[in-house]
Amino acid sequence: MTVHQASQGGTRRLAIGSHDLPVSHELSAFMANGWASSPLPTDARVPAHSATPARRARLSARFPGERLLVPAGELKVRSNDCDYRFRPHSAYAWLTGLTGEDQPGHVLVLEPSGPHGHEAVLYLRPRCSRTGGSEEFYRDRRYGEFWVGRRPDLEEAERLTGIRCAHLDELGTAPGRDASKDGELAAALSELRLVKDAWEVAQLQLAVDHTTAGFNDVVRGLPRALAHPRGERWIEGVFGLRARAEGNGTGYDTIAASGAHACVLHWIHNDGRLDPSELLLLDAGVETDTLYTADITRTMPLSGRFSPVQRQVYELVLAAQEAGIAALRPGASFRDFHRAGMRVISEGLAEWGVLKNSEGDLHRRYTLCSSGHMLGLDVHDCAKARAETYLDGVLEAGQVLTVEPGLYLQPDDETLPAELRGIGVRIEDDLVITENGAHLMSGALPRSVAGIEDWMGALLEGGS
Ligand code: GLY
Ligand code: MN
Ligand code: MN
Repeated sequence: MTVHQASQGGTRRLAIGSHDLPVSHELSAFMANGWASSPLPTDARVPAHSATPARRARLSARFPGERLLVPAGELKVRSNDCDYRFRPHSAYAWLTGLTGEDQPGHVLVLEPSGPHGHEAVLYLRPRCSRTGGSEEFYRDRRYGEFWVGRRPDLEEAERLTGIRCAHLDELGTAPGRDASKDGELAAALSELRLVKDAWEVAQLQLAVDHTTAGFNDVVRGLPRALAHPRGERWIEGVFGLRARAEGNGTGYDTIAASGAHACVLHWIHNDGRLDPSELLLLDAGVETDTLYTADITRTMPLSGRFSPVQRQVYELVLAAQEAGIAALRPGASFRDFHRAGMRVISEGLAEWGVLKNSEGDLHRRYTLCSSGHMLGLDVHDCAKARAETYLDGVLEAGQVLTVEPGLYLQPDDETLPAELRGIGVRIEDDLVITENGAHLMSGALPRSVAGIEDWMGALLEGGS
């Protein structure tokens, strides 16, 4: 259990474990002296803050005269005295450029200032002095410098962010807070992030490139995964290694679904054994240190070669994806690419005799979900945007999205011929809308049947 204990030098309680040894007065006095000044390491993350003033100005313009609070979020207990890793809220990261694990509890406040504008103030927990009587730096498991690393002091934080910084203790309780307007603020923050600037698109491309490397690692590692009783878990681990080595980690829990597990849209148990006669659906994305994530799916035969029936299903999904991608351009409605892909799927299912005809929405028994979403700091980015700006809106240059049709033919679906049951295929790519169409950001990973087989052949031949 973590007990909270008043620190000697301040009002905040220290997070101390019940198994931590008590500290004598002699030790306390000894710890308080003899430290040289230690500037913030030069390799401390420098946020890309050059774009953040304009972002804050756009938010400010939407809420004249209103005090706005955008919190980074709080640590969440995983169990006992262990917290989950911290990731700041995407809106906070976008407005401040701060993306690190040292942000819990921090709050960006836009204070109304002048007739229309706002002044930004960042309320944060600055580095705690070692000589002022506080024992935080060596005793506090959550925030102590010797436990979790050095935080910037207020001056350093101002230099890093270009924002006026104040101690978190000065924030206090907001007077007259109107929680009924939280939804409006959340919608605005989603909508302001819908169109990405060139730097953001470059970050997303970096995420896609690292993800491509992770997919290559997985294919190279298939012989070991096939030999392991929980091959899906092995695959998750291989991808996770790449994600953690190159970026902040995975942007969402990796879906490593073999055989009929692929018919579960978000299969993250990943505890299955791999059967070489089956397909593997891998849906995974690396999140960069700047917190932008890719979201890519490839479905591949674990033997390296598609069987005729696997190929039949795969090629229908691929045709649907091609139709969806062809519908992407500025000015098209967001729903167009989904409709285009689903038309191909409906017609294909009717041709196979699974559906009587291609009209209506009965194909959804086999496709289950919509076939794409915005992508950015969140995998399902800008999710709080109002329907008129997203779902019922039109595409704009600079928006990044996924196109990810799938067919999920459940193993116990009696409407299907036996040979189709238990096959799940999704093909998911990341695209940026351009001035006259869309650019495929994840094109380095093959999608055609021959392309997948050649890719796997080359990587498996090369060994791991
Ligand atoms: N990886 C979740 C999704 O594709 O939306
Ligand atoms: Mn997706
Ligand atoms: Mn996905």
